[in-house]
Amino acid sequence: MRTQICIIGGGPSGLLLAKLLRNQGIDVRLLERKTRDYVLGRIRAGVLEVGFVELMRLAGVAERMDKEGFTHDGTSIALNNEVFHLDFVQHTGTPVVVYGQTELTRDLYDALEADGAPIDFEVDQVEIHDAKSDAPYVTFTDRDGVSQRIDCDYIAGCDGFHGVSRQAIPTSVRREYEKLYPFGWLGVLSETPPVHHELIYSGSDRGFALCSMRNANLSRYYIQCSLSDSPDDWSDEAFWQELKRRIPEQFADSIVTGPSIEKSIAPLRSFVCEPMQWGRLFLCGDAAHIVPPTGAKGLNTAASDIHYLYYALLQHYQDKDSAGLEAYSQKALARIWKAERFSWSTTMLLHRFPEMNEFDLKMQVADIHFLRDNEAAQKVFAQNYVGLPY
Ligand code: APR
Ligand code: PHB
Repeated sequence: MRTQICIIGGGPSGLLLAKLLRNQGIDVRLLERKTRDYVLGRIRAGVLEVGFVELMRLAGVAERMDKEGFTHDGTSIALNNEVFHLDFVQHTGTPVVVYGQTELTRDLYDALEADGAPIDFEVDQVEIHDAKSDAPYVTFTDRDGVSQRIDCDYIAGCDGFHGVSRQAIPTSVRREYEKLYPFGWLGVLSETPPVHHELIYSGSDRGFALCSMRNANLSRYYIQCSLSDSPDDWSDEAFWQELKRRIPEQFADSIVTGPSIEKSIAPLRSFVCEPMQWGRLFLCGDAAHIVPPTGAKGLNTAASDIHYLYYALLQHYQDKDSAGLEAYSQKALARIWKAERFSWSTTMLLHRFPEMNEFDLKMQVADIHFLRDNEAAQKVFAQNYVGLPY
């Protein structure tokens, strides 16, 4: 088989890139390890920067997002029983859109399959070959166990943190930067109306909590938890009781609780791989970087990678100019590191760390009060949250 771009990974990164390129008549082939239903079963992020929204519109898959997504002009930030509103539109002129990653992934799959995109599900033993040559290729076994080979011009490694693409960059070349956080997030999905019309990021003496949503009758809540916890350690009742103790009383008294339809624990990690390209292999999204979810950047950092790679490939094929491809890693990393910083700083701001002493706690309170009281601080937070320019 031969294609122009072989995309490894059928998550948001790979799907969005595939749709954008196919719209321009560029031939792609997408390899996904799991089934479509398995991918769609993953409960992930929900806040989209305007850059992601615009890419979805450019890809022609934004109809449902535009109809069902919530536009949020700001967010609430709480510390124990105090809460203040931070207005994104007032400080930046830009809102964010709340629309589940599961839904946008479904929209992308529907659109790609409607126009007959070649997607191989349930592939195995994917290997990248000759990425540093002018004739790279990918081998794999298809769902029937038959060995296959795809010769291509370029390879997009969109296969997430546990994929094979990053490993194709020699360890002598690859630099990996990582910070592991000493806690996780216990997340619950419930078919209940959201407790508030916007998100609530809440720091408390008992630990962090987040109130989010997917639609008018589907809420997403998180509480900071121990890494030794498992979801089975937390009954629904115990979860709701702890969540109520970590958010301001006005919300704790009004929250509608209900049975969890999904309950999971995610560890928190900051991670960046440099470089994000190796010859004709380009890493995008979680394959290259991970952020703690506090700053809602996971999906949105994947979007800026796809933006840069899409336009670089377009420039190559349409203008015979490879400058964008040569600069991809440098350009993508410049924005990634800023998103890493924001995600790290919001995590430090709102979580209770085991090693914190009384002074550290006072610094955290002073930080949150400064954000509450200072226009410039709020403007900086809002600029980062809605998304720095591409
Ligand atoms: N071969 C083919 N596919 C693979 C392989 C492989 N060897 N390894 C992993 N995959 C697939 C996974 O099954 C997954 O569907 O690659 C896809 C990677 O998708 P994500 O992990 O969602 O990463 P990405 O598309 O970059 O999206 C980033 O997803 O994990 C969240 O928080 C993250 O919101 C962010 C977004
Ligand atoms: C979510 O809705 O899942 C969500 C929202 C904001 C975050 C993290 C997760 O910062």
